[in-house]
Amino acid sequence: MLKAKIAVLVSGGGTNLQALLDSQGSVLNAGEIALVISNNADAYALERAKNAGVKTAVVSKKACASQEEFEDKISALLTENKIDLIVLAGFMCILSERFTSRYPKRILNVHPSLIPSFCGKGFYGLHVHEAALEYGVKVTGATVHFVNEIPDGGEIILQKAVDICPDDTPESLQKRVMQEAEWKILPAATELVSASILLEGKE
Ligand code: GAR
Repeated sequence: MLKAKIAVLVSGGGTNLQALLDSQGSVLNAGEIALVISNNADAYALERAKNAGVKTAVVSKKACASQEEFEDKISALLTENKIDLIVLAGFMCILSERFTSRYPKRILNVHPSLIPSFCGKGFYGLHVHEAALEYGVKVTGATVHFVNEIPDGGEIILQKAVDICPDDTPESLQKRVMQEAEWKILPAATELVSASILLEGKE
């Protein structure tokens, strides 16, 4: 195996996907983005993948009769494309234990807070930053962690802190957390895990 094959799962704008794509050949060397899967056919992230020449697929949850069918369709794509590592980059669907247990230490997620603060069920996207501002914390940040059966509960790989400014809105904070933390630690963590997958392959 020359490079770990990575699938990125997305739902929306895909700025974290863009950071991963842009990091290929610099920060990200041990892995290559081979597939982008979206649960939302209108996600701009799909355009970003196409612009980078990366294969895309859409698996709509609404078109599936059950969570099992949704997850099995994703698994089939991962197997078909010989994927070694799954990166959740703004993927807004919860994956069941039935799915996550198939890929121990092979699924990463980026979360826009310093876990264990502002995480778990209901904490996603802008809601996370609203909660941080409401609580009045002075420092927030982002976390990349392995995904297990507990939402946002898997082992932490990297974290980066970001200061909160007195005049921050949820939107301004979201943007700064992305720029200063997410777009840096997601490629770095993906490289760390890809490199360890390559090492395992050689043992
Ligand atoms: C990012 O801030 C990501 O951390 C967050 O959604 C945003 C997606 O943006 N993910 C979660 O909240 C997951 N719990 P993007 O589509 O531009 O990468």
